[in-house]
Amino acid sequence: MNTPVIAIDGPTASGKGSVAARVASALGWHYLDSGAIYRVLALAGLQRGIALDDEASLADLAPKLEVRFDGEAIYIDGVEASLDVRRETTGNAASKIAVLPGVRTALMARLRAFRQAPGLVGDGRDMGSVVFPDAPLKIFLTASAEARAERRYKQLIEKGLAANLDSLVQELRERDARDASRPVAPLKPCEDAILLDTTPLTIDEAVAFVLQQAQTHKLC
Ligand code: CDP
Ligand code: CDP
Repeated sequence: MNTPVIAIDGPTASGKGSVAARVASALGWHYLDSGAIYRVLALAGLQRGIALDDEASLADLAPKLEVRFDGEAIYIDGVEASLDVRRETTGNAASKIAVLPGVRTALMARLRAFRQAPGLVGDGRDMGSVVFPDAPLKIFLTASAEARAERRYKQLIEKGLAANLDSLVQELRERDARDASRPVAPLKPCEDAILLDTTPLTIDEAVAFVLQQAQTHKLC
């Protein structure tokens, strides 16, 4: 059997990162934050003066970057860049480069390389639909736009990053629309995904749900 994957997809601030990281830790599996890879490429491109629609240059840069995760910290070519990676402006830039098919193709091998024994929990937009279509368990998280904007607001403020609730709601809707309407790997639940609305749930409750599903699917 292939190394098992739990794919957790969903829109921004639906809770996929927090939930996926905790599920991975509970199972002793590897964790892939695929959005961070898109964020890193967007940031590194901007730092090099590459335009966010320059598909060829971004695709060329994608395999060359050295990206290292150490807990919450992210290093690009050996330099700590965690705060810049987490900025909302970087998330929006990531969503712009993510519409480019050449960029998605260039990142595929890097993303798939995270699939290592004993298992992988991957979060993003297309973990279940494109990157790991054979994942034995696919979860799609949702939450109301208001709940997500408030969560992201608190998260940014706690990190000491700039945030404005009104513009966050606006940006979040724009990002949802761009992610859902792109022709390649659009954000949408695949047919075999289990949907979970996290609006009324704590992170612990969402984690318990996924772990229960992992048991039901005989993954642990
Ligand atoms: O944490 P948040 O949901 O705000 O964003 P993220 O997961 O870090 O992803 C940033 C952007 O990268 C998203 O808005 C997507 O456009 C893109 N992305 C993608 O296209 N495919 C993925 N598997 C992950 C992220
Ligand atoms: O990865 P994604 O953008 O989907 O979301 P996240 O970074 O996991 O969650 C965004 C924020 O919402 C974090 O600060 C979480 O602690 C919080 N959250 C929450 O309060 N309740 C949930 N059920 C899920 C996430």
